[in-house]
Amino acid sequence: MRLIILDDADVVAEWAARFVLQRVTQFAPGPGRHFVLGLPTGGTPLGMYRKLIQFHREGKISFKHVTTFNMDEYVGLPRDHPESYHYYMWNEFFRHVDIEPANAHVLDGNAPDLVAECQRFEDLIQQAGGVHLFIGGIGPDGHIAFNEPGSSLVSRTRVKTLAYDTLEANKRFFGNDISKVPRQALTVGVGTVMDAKEVMILITGVHKSLALAKAVEEGVNHMWTVSAFQQHAQTLFVCDEAATLELRVKTVKYFKALSEEHQKMIEGKPVDEQRVIH
Ligand code: PGA
Repeated sequence: MRLIILDDADVVAEWAARFVLQRVTQFAPGPGRHFVLGLPTGGTPLGMYRKLIQFHREGKISFKHVTTFNMDEYVGLPRDHPESYHYYMWNEFFRHVDIEPANAHVLDGNAPDLVAECQRFEDLIQQAGGVHLFIGGIGPDGHIAFNEPGSSLVSRTRVKTLAYDTLEANKRFFGNDISKVPRQALTVGVGTVMDAKEVMILITGVHKSLALAKAVEEGVNHMWTVSAFQQHAQTLFVCDEAATLELRVKTVKYFKALSEEHQKMIEGKPVDEQRVIH
C-alpha cells in the first residue's frame, strides 16, 4: 500500500488527475486496446474530473479508447434527475471529453430486473478484460461505493439498502428532506473493486480522518469496508493533511518520508524507472 499525503484537497485533485494521465499514457490505448477505468461520484473526485477535462482540452489525454465503469447508482431516480449518478457523470465529466457514450457504463437503477442489471454489469467488466485502475472515495463510516458497514468484503455488484447514516449524509442533496433520498442503490461490491489491477482511493477532510485511520492502521474489518484494500496488491490512498488527523505521528512521518518516490509516479517516467513499493 502507498499512502500519499498532500497539502489540501486541490493538490489531491491535481495529483489524482496526473496519476490517471500517467497510467493512460503508459498504457497507450488504441483500437481494440482499451484502458479500463472504474470511477466514483461524490464531492471528492470533482476536482480530479475538472483537471482531467483540462488535460483533455490541452491535448494531453484522450478517452476515445477508454472504457469506464461507475461504482454505483441510486434505485428509482430518473436518469435525468440532478442527483442521479448518470446526470453527475455526464455533466461533470463525460460530456466534456471524447469518450464514446457506449463505453461509459453506469448501472441502471431503473432496470426492470435489478438483479439481472447487476449481473450484466459484472459481465461487462469481465468482457472488457477487468478494470486497470479503480478510483474510489470513501464515506466517514469507511464505506467504499455503497458498501456500507457490515457489507461482505467479497461482495459483488448488487442491490443495497442504504444505511441511515448514508441517507442522513446525502439528504443535503435532496433539499434536506431525508424522505426524498432513495432507500436503495445498485453498487459494485468490495470484491468487484478488489479485482481491479490497481486501486486509488481519494480521502479529503477531517470528517474522513477516523475512516482513514481505520483503513490503514487497524485490521481488515467489514465494519470499515475500505480496510479490505489492505489485502490488495496495488492500492494507493491519496489524502490531504486534514484527513491524517487521526493517524499516528509515526504513520504520517513514515509515508511523508516516501514523498519523493510518490512524486515520480506522476512525472511521466517510463514504468520501468518507477520503483513499486507495496
Ligand atoms: P464524498 O462521498 O466524496 O461526497 O464525500 C464519498 C462517499 O460517500 O463515498
